[in-house]
Amino acid sequence: MHFPSLVVKASGVHAPEQGRIEILENCAIAVDETGTIEQVLHPTHSDHDALIEGAEQRKILHRLDKNDVLIPGLVDLHIHAPQWPQLGKALDAPLEDWLQKYTFPLEAKFADHDYARTIYDDLVRTLLAHGTTTAVYFGSVDFQANVILAEACLRHGQRALVGKVAMDHKGQCPDYYRDASTETALEESRRFVEKISTMRQGSNPLVLPAITPRFIPSCTDELLHGLGALAAQTGCHVQSHCSESDWEVSHVRSRLGKSDTEAFDDFGLLTNRTILAHSNFISEQDMALMAQRGAAVAHCPLSNAYFANAVFPLRKALSHGVDVGLGTDIAGGFSPSIFDTARYALMASRHACCGTAPDRLQSARGSGETPLTTAETFWLATTAGGRALSLPIGLFKPGYAFDAICVRSNTTGSGFRQDPDVDTLTDVFEKLVLTADRSCISDVWVNGKRRT
Ligand code: GUN
Ligand code: FE
Repeated sequence: MHFPSLVVKASGVHAPEQGRIEILENCAIAVDETGTIEQVLHPTHSDHDALIEGAEQRKILHRLDKNDVLIPGLVDLHIHAPQWPQLGKALDAPLEDWLQKYTFPLEAKFADHDYARTIYDDLVRTLLAHGTTTAVYFGSVDFQANVILAEACLRHGQRALVGKVAMDHKGQCPDYYRDASTETALEESRRFVEKISTMRQGSNPLVLPAITPRFIPSCTDELLHGLGALAAQTGCHVQSHCSESDWEVSHVRSRLGKSDTEAFDDFGLLTNRTILAHSNFISEQDMALMAQRGAAVAHCPLSNAYFANAVFPLRKALSHGVDVGLGTDIAGGFSPSIFDTARYALMASRHACCGTAPDRLQSARGSGETPLTTAETFWLATTAGGRALSLPIGLFKPGYAFDAICVRSNTTGSGFRQDPDVDTLTDVFEKLVLTADRSCISDVWVNGKRRT
């Protein structure tokens, strides 16, 4: 008789829809040998007791403690892997200065592959410890350093998208950090997609390639066009930066006479596998175009606070049907944690919706839109991230990958407390979203395997 490879007995929570959570009290989750969820059984289900008994006999039962809450693994849609060493540094500079003065020199160092190996090993392990089970990475220009990043993800078992950064514009990229030519950028982007394909393990790959033009200013039209053709040929994910700051938006408009979103579409780069970081200055027409193409936004509220001088119009984008998830934007954002990022998204939304200027009447202080709820914030960090990537992750549901984290309450050193005499499971959920941190994460599973 077929039996699952892992059964986890836990109280958990997930967000099947925007704004709606489902509490799974004392459920049994059966996971097959490919890491896919087979069944989620409530204790009253007629098969529940036999499943637990069988799992106990086969020593494949993992029982969570009464203080533990199981949640889907966190999804980070936007990380610059080679910027890890500068987390928290020089964020008072404007974006264009920060890139030229600090970021490009640092990213250029990843042509040293021993350096890349050390930094990427540390980054992947740290993000897993923070509960990021799926990470979407910009690498650097150097081809082999990106292979090293993909290898680190495979070694430590983190689900990831990895992109070789393409940037060939001579006026915008320094001589020491630029693809040697447009042809080289295209050829290495293509070779990187092929390389990741040959690294895949079986039919259920953990690491996928992403076509990665850095942003429109750093790429020539020819390169963007060629990468659009590559996206059409391979069906791969695409990632870039979109309408991030006043400087960037006006640069694109004066060069191409259109918005970033329209330009990406014209280059063939706006697909249902595209993830665009920031997108702060997108118009309602841009939102409609993104929704029509199925492209997603990586909302990066921490770095927006520094580089954007604006708050991403999240409510409006969601109501236009745009897929949105969260990104730390390491190192434009100063935290490696999607919990921190989610809370900052919540605060940014409250400020934008409710207002910032006390000298105005309450009715005129903010956008007047409804701020994010706690349940929506959690949905953004989990389910919505999976949807943005079109991957079966972020929910406890048959057919989805078992990517999950155990969040432990009442450990000394963390603010995540619960009192079973007073708190309902909904109370515990709200406390988790607002207070849990890395110190509460006791176990991390990706694709059914324990990773920390
Ligand atoms: N735009 C182009 N490159 C970058 C980057 O590395 N970080 C951010 N935040 N924006 C960018
Ligand atoms: Fe970024």
